[in-house]
Amino acid sequence: MAQIFSRAADTWFRVAMLVTLGGLIGVFIVALLLERSDYQTGRGWVVRQPVPFSHQHHAGALRIDCRYCHAGVEDSPRAGFPPTHTCMSCHSQLWTQADMLAPVRRSLEENRPLRWNRVVALPDYVYFQHDVHVRSGVGCVSCHGQVERMPLLHKAEPLSMSFCLDCHRDPAPRLRPPEAVTDMDWHTDEDRRQLGERLMRERHIDPARLTSCGVCHR
Ligand code: HEC
Ligand code: HEC
Ligand code: HEC
Ligand code: HEC
Ligand code: HEC
Repeated sequence: MAQIFSRAADTWFRVAMLVTLGGLIGVFIVALLLERSDYQTGRGWVVRQPVPFSHQHHAGALRIDCRYCHAGVEDSPRAGFPPTHTCMSCHSQLWTQADMLAPVRRSLEENRPLRWNRVVALPDYVYFQHDVHVRSGVGCVSCHGQVERMPLLHKAEPLSMSFCLDCHRDPAPRLRPPEAVTDMDWHTDEDRRQLGERLMRERHIDPARLTSCGVCHR
């Protein structure tokens, strides 16, 4: 019987198949790595802002409390951003001519809020509230990292579902007295688990409830 394909063509066909298969596996591996990478979660990336605001200067060196600027954080779901007059409470006297602060002065003159670009944000289908966490003694540092050391803010934790669940399964060792939530160098000599379990009892926190899907997806 006459051969339709020569032996050589057959070999080339096999080689081509192998190369294609290898390529597909490669693409699959790269996709898997990307899915878990900081590129995908946005962790560690700096975002461009209208003013290069430094948490290191303001929250670190000057020790301004987080709540002075993020006033909603204790009593509402959102922490919120400071209105321009909060900046001007100091910058109407300090650095009044600095070019860097021109957008802040313009915002006050034109009565238009500064538009800060978001650094951390959850998808719409996730429900989150600051007040329940802050009032229960979850420190800002648990979710936002050492903000007071960041010249420009970046996302320090992935804020992924497994990140949330890690704590929801067993919050006790990560809790602190609620009055210390914004204290970035808080520490205690007391056993963290014992302290946390006492705080859980006082606030009637039931960890069995915290892992059900409906808590964060409602
Ligand atoms: C409680 C006072 C206070 C408030 C409120 C305040 N600042 Fe400042 N800011 C300062 C001081 C003091 C400096 C100088 C820091 C230095 O040079 O060590 C400064 C410096 C700056 C600088 C210069 C760059 C730097 O970080 O050194 C920028 C930009 C700035 N502030 C923006 C803002 C913005 C925007 C707000 C409002 C969200 C704000 N500040 C609120 C006190 C304040
Ligand atoms: C003087 C005002 C001021 C103080 C004090 C301050 N912040 Fe901010 N914060 C801002 C401004 C302005 C922005 C928006 C610009 C930026 O992202 O850096 C911001 C942004 C943030 C963001 C990013 C939110 C997002 O999605 O974009 C986090 C998280 C944050 N602050 C946490 C903190 C914590 C924690 C503290 C206390 C340790 C603190 N801040 C103290 C003014 C302040
Ligand atoms: C349990 C984790 C957690 C804790 C604790 C926490 N945050 Fe957040 N924060 C988040 C998440 C998640 C977002 C994004 C929310 C969204 O997109 O709906 C966020 C957003 C923010 C924002 C952006 C504006 C906003 O309201 O969405 C600021 C500012 C902020 N947090 C400041 C703080 C400060 C200050 C504290 C401590 C007093 C704090 N956060 C404690 C998880 C946390
Ligand atoms: C470090 C610990 C910790 C982390 C991280 C954390 N949580 Fe929580 N969360 C708690 C604790 C403790 C409570 C219980 C508060 C209470 O009942 O007073 C809670 C309560 C909640 C509630 C309210 C439940 C209810 O109905 O009372 C929601 C919603 C929630 N968390 C969502 C999230 C999401 C979304 C994330 C991730 C972005 C997250 N949490 C990360 C500790 C944490
Ligand atoms: C403590 C809060 C929390 C609980 C409880 C929770 N989730 Fe999520 N879930 C999240 C967050 C945060 C994200 C967003 C992750 C991201 O941005 O990548 C998410 C994302 C998802 C997604 C989108 C796909 C993905 O994996 O990113 C699905 C589907 C989902 N959750 C299903 C569930 C189911 C089913 C349950 C119950 C077994 C559950 N979740 C319980 C916080 C929670």
